[in-house]
This record gives sequence, structure tokens and C-alpha cells, in this order.
Amino acid sequence: MTTSEAPARIAVTGLAVMGSNLARNLARHGYRVAVHNRSSARTKALIEEHGHEGDFVPAETLEELVASLQTPRQIIIMVKAGAPTDAVIDELVPLLEPGDMVIDGGNAHYADTRRREAALREAGLHFVGAGISGGEEGALNGPSIMPGGSKESYQHLGPVLESIAAQVDGVPCCVHVGPDGAGHFVKMVHNGIEYADMQLIAEAYDLLNRVGGMTPTQIAEVFRGWNSGDLESYLVEITAEVLGHFDPETGVPLVDVIADEAEQKGTGRWTVQEALELGVPVTGIAEAVFARSLSGRVEQRKAAREAFGSPEVLASERIADQLVEDVRQALYASKVVAYAQGFDQMRAASAEYGWDLDLGAMATIWRGGCIIRARFLDRIREAYDKDPNLASLLVDEYFRDAVRDAEAAWRRVVVGAVEAGVPVPGFVSALAYYDALRSERLPASLVQGLRDFFGAHTYRRTDREGSFHTLWSGDRSQVDA
Ligand code: 6PG
Repeated sequence: MTTSEAPARIAVTGLAVMGSNLARNLARHGYRVAVHNRSSARTKALIEEHGHEGDFVPAETLEELVASLQTPRQIIIMVKAGAPTDAVIDELVPLLEPGDMVIDGGNAHYADTRRREAALREAGLHFVGAGISGGEEGALNGPSIMPGGSKESYQHLGPVLESIAAQVDGVPCCVHVGPDGAGHFVKMVHNGIEYADMQLIAEAYDLLNRVGGMTPTQIAEVFRGWNSGDLESYLVEITAEVLGHFDPETGVPLVDVIADEAEQKGTGRWTVQEALELGVPVTGIAEAVFARSLSGRVEQRKAAREAFGSPEVLASERIADQLVEDVRQALYASKVVAYAQGFDQMRAASAEYGWDLDLGAMATIWRGGCIIRARFLDRIREAYDKDPNLASLLVDEYFRDAVRDAEAAWRRVVVGAVEAGVPVPGFVSALAYYDALRSERLPASLVQGLRDFFGAHTYRRTDREGSFHTLWSGDRSQVDA
């Protein structure tokens, strides 16, 4: 920390772990950073513990924070999404001047971001909803940053954000995502994919454990091996860490003593809600959200266990080798489906809101820093570079071949799991999605027939244009609708 009077380049308000780590990241990159927290104890703690890392300007009040900044001002808000964010914005706006920028780095709902952006635009201010992924560690050492908002705001902010973001092959994991809520929408889908990815990993573990008879330590080794192939990713890497860890108190694998009730803060649920609105089938993400909800229904689970008993799985080590390879392939294929669905959702939102999202660029900024960073995001980027209008990631040559190659193993895994009574909603729904998408005919024709029968909802025909209705309760002749 220095005592010079030069104005600060940028500010951070909200100094819980994410906020203070982001401020430290900025300071470590040579920016003079003004820092503020509602209760000044946190500001003091940051300066005491980390003041030596760079050039911090502590502020007691928001007025002081604003006064310490060069213009146009850039203020990053790192507080809880929802009402706390609105409260800070309301307090901040009267202190600002046209051209200043307010950046929300929390996990805001994109609709809130759209609302806030419109309101601040009215006041001549820029509001930037920036998704930031990578947890505490990422915030400090290089997150993936997904800023939305005006192009003009990005001209000022982009260089700063790009410099503190993770870098992969010299390319920053930060790009201007699009106007208003685009950044937070993309972050939301990132989190939805994160849910799906984790659910698939958990199912893979469950199968190896309950069907393959492998211990968490053995499965940790399997994941470690997988992390040097196509599945290489942060989540696979940390799966090996978690599964390989022993509880110091009891001496058993930690995973065996963690309560099996998964929690959620809501971004996965938002992803599914928005997908429903947009009519995009994100079945992998939905199954992951529901699997977490189901795990938390403790009373219901107990009642069902008492009524039916737990499935008795006869683990057989004999089949483990084959199973490991099959599960690896099923995991990979299901993961491709989950990502394909998430990218479909971003494309649909882009069309709906006129965001003009560059899907290849989204894959690029997810290659490093974020929770779903993975080797195969390079493949996704390549796929969209080749064809920005790709009908589905699944039909890109590389992924088409990968999924085709995995198909037999994928089916064996799903059949085996269903027979054994091990729930694999992620694997099953991914396979069903794949089969549905490539089916020549879907039974949606019958659904249409039924809708026409009970509600005269009409149907279209395969052989000519128009809408038709059958006089079901009359002579059953067909009429133009
Ligand atoms: C990230 C994470 C981060 C957070 C999730 C966890 O990208 O850094 O996604 O945003 O860890 O919100 O979400 P749940 O609590 O809903 O699992």
C-alpha cells in the first residue's frame, strides 16, 4: 500500500472472500485499487493482511470510495445477489457522474441485470453484469470473466479485466459477452453445465463403487488416470482429490462420511427455469438439479427405503476393468450432450434478446479459470470456429465421432445401471436425448393426435402444408383448421 494521492484506477466494494481476492488480484497486477466494505473491519483486515501485495486505497464510506477514483469511475460490486446488490447500487448511483461504470461481479440473475442496466443507462451510467467463475482461488489467481454491458464500457474495462483473468495459451479468459444481461446469462449457463458435469461424475463414481465394487481410493486413481485423456478437466482432477481424502477423525474415506444431501444456491435451477421459458431441452442440467433436490428429501427417501428396501447391488470386481472403460466413455458422451444443450440454450437466448453471442468465444473463455474448465472446450471452440451456425455440438465431426465411438459402452452402462438399480438419471437422460434427436420419427405425432382429440388443438401433416382437425366425435373426417 502506498500513500500517494493519485486517484485509484478501479474500486471494489464488498470484501468477503471473493471481493477481497478480486481486489488483491487487481492490486497484484499493478492497479491502484480502492476498497470498501459496509463494515470497515473487513477493509482493515484486508489492508493488514495483504496491504503489502499492492496499491490499496481503503475507504470508510462509499462517498470516500467514489472520491478516490479516476474518471470515468469503475466500481466493482461484490455483494450477495438480489436485494443486497440493489441496496449498494441505490446508494452508489447518486454519487456518480455520467459515463461512470458500475460492475456487478456476483451471481446475479440476468433479468435483474437487464433491469439494472436499463435503469442506470437512463441515468447516463454504464452497468456491467460480469459473471466471474473460479471460486476464491480463481478470483485471486485468475478467474474466467464474462462481462456484459455496453461496448463502450468494455473499452475501458476490458484491458483491466483481461489482465487479471486466467490466461490459456496467451489468450485471456475474458471477452465482451454482449449487451445488458448477456454476461450473467452466460455465467448462469456455465453453472448449469457445472451442475450437469458434477452429477455425471457422481454417477460414474456411484457405478464404480456399487457395481464395480471399487473403493473411493481406487476410484480416485481411476479419475486421476482419466484426467490425462479426453476427460481432462478441473472437476475430474478435484474428484480424484476428494475421493482420495481420508477423514482424519474416523480414518475412513471422507466421501463415506459426508451426508448425501446436495445443496444448491440456485443458479442451476435458474438455468432450467430459463430453458423452460426458451423451450430448450437442457435435460442434463434439469436432471442434475432434480437429483440434488431428491437427495435432500430425507423423509421421503427414508419412507421409500422402508417400503421397498435399498437395491441390492452385487458388486463384482471381475467386471471392473471393462466397467471402468465403459463408464469413462459413457461419462464423456453424456458430458458432450450436457455441453451441447447448454450451448443450445445460449444460442436461443442470444436470438431472443439480440445479444449476438459468439459461442466459440464462450468456449474460449471457459478454457481456464472457471469451474468447468476442460480440455475439450478447445474442441468446442474449434467446432464453432468451423461453423458458427452448427445445428448442435453433437453433429460437429469431432463430437459426432466421439459420441458414436462411445455409444455401445454408453448403452451397456445404462442397461447395467438400470438392471442393478443404481440411479443414473444423467447418463439415462443424455442417452435418451441423443436417441430422440436422431430418431427418424418421434411419438410426438401421437401427442398431437391426442391433443386434437380432446381439445381440437389441430395438427400438421407430413405430406402437405396446413393445419388440420379430425372430427373425432362426428364422422371422423378431416377438416382444414
Ligand atoms: C463458479 C461457481 C460459483 C459457485 C456456485 C455453486 O463458477 O465459481 O459456479 O459460482 O461455486 O454458485 O453453486 P451451488 O451452491 O448452487 O452449487
